[in-house]
Amino acid sequence: MRVTHLSLTDFRNYRTAEVPFAAGANLFVGRNGQGKTNLVESLGYLSTLGSHRVSSDQAMIRKDADAGIVRARIQHDGRELLIEVQLNRGSANRAQVNRGAIKPRELPRYFSSVLFAPEDLALVRGEPGIRRRFLDQLLIQRNPRFSAVIADYERVLKQRNTLLKSARASRVREDQLGTLEIWDDRLVQLGSELIDARLDLIERLSDPLIATYRSVAGDDHHPRLIPQLTILGAHVEDDDGAEPDDVTGSAGVATTEAFRRALSAVRRKELERGLTLVGPHRDDVLFELNELPAKGYASHGESWSFALALKLASAELLRRESTTGDPVLILDDVFAELDQARRRKLATAVAGYEQVLITAAVLDDVPEELTAHTVRIEAGAIVEDPDA
Ligand SMILES: Nc1ncnc2c1ncn2[C@@H]1O[C@H](COP(=O)(O)OP(=O)(O)OP(=O)(O)O)[C@@H](O)[C@H]1O
Ligand SMILES: [Mg+2]
Repeated sequence: MRVTHLSLTDFRNYRTAEVPFAAGANLFVGRNGQGKTNLVESLGYLSTLGSHRVSSDQAMIRKDADAGIVRARIQHDGRELLIEVQLNRGSANRAQVNRGAIKPRELPRYFSSVLFAPEDLALVRGEPGIRRRFLDQLLIQRNPRFSAVIADYERVLKQRNTLLKSARASRVREDQLGTLEIWDDRLVQLGSELIDARLDLIERLSDPLIATYRSVAGDDHHPRLIPQLTILGAHVEDDDGAEPDDVTGSAGVATTEAFRRALSAVRRKELERGLTLVGPHRDDVLFELNELPAKGYASHGESWSFALALKLASAELLRRESTTGDPVLILDDVFAELDQARRRKLATAVAGYEQVLITAAVLDDVPEELTAHTVRIEAGAIVEDPDA
């Protein structure tokens, strides 16, 4: 698929903007802080309902405005769609397809993009939550039904934690906690579905990742993704430092059964802490390069290549499975980080995509074959003639 036109109203530093897009590569250039990332961020938001820079939507609404609007005309197989989201300061966001209202969380059904930005280095170096979010976002893009599964799991988790906390406060004994079992059932059911889907996704990413890593880094460095499941006793370093150290591995057992066993193994500890200690909300996926963890071992360049390769592998997977053509590939500020040889490799790797959106502060950083359609951006406005 591709975007043929983007309209922004009160989005970030854009008051209004009308931006036509070409097939193939579209390059947005301009000095620092002019609105290049803002522009592509708006399209990233349409396909994932999230930003690669902020967790709250509020920052995307233009300062002093009450609502921001992103509207894109999308084309695939000769069909056109108009999709739109309105970000509201004081109320729920709204979305439309062809002027008819839909739930915002339905948007990923209509538009698919994969964005890579310097922030993605955190996929390799950051906390487990960043990797979980990456996997879940890709799950939703491949199958939008998962947004409901994930939301339900999070709701059950919250209620179960509330119950564990109140049990702790009022010193309820384990055998008095009948309602906990009801929450356990829901947690295991939804959580196992999520775990299995992530495992399947990790497996599907493996081959494309090897290929994309080689295509951007040029090396055979054997990138691997290894699931770390807390229900199988994985010790995941998480923000609160609480670890389920009583679970012993039981690989090979069905997920629901392993989940149940793990829950009963940590029951006492959960009651002490008032916290659900095992489940997909605490899992991780280990990134390995040449049989060493990328985090803590890989060089800056290798970590960068890993994150980029992972995003390209996601795009490859979406493209293989999609009935609506390629996802739109978005490369925010990527070329400045790469040496000449890697720039050329990346240009080759993305050449086959229906549409690629690229931002750069310096035109010369971008290989010439990607510069045919160049748009200059200045202070939240499109400057028509890039040579002017
Ligand atoms: N909600 C907002 N309202 C108004 N302005 C905003 C808002 N959010 C961000 N900005 C402004 O947008 C500008 C940043 O734009 P952006 O990140 O797109 O820059 P860029 O062109 O990608 O620059 P760089 O080359 O440094 O990456 C900043 O000047 C920032 O103050
Ligand atoms: Mg930028």
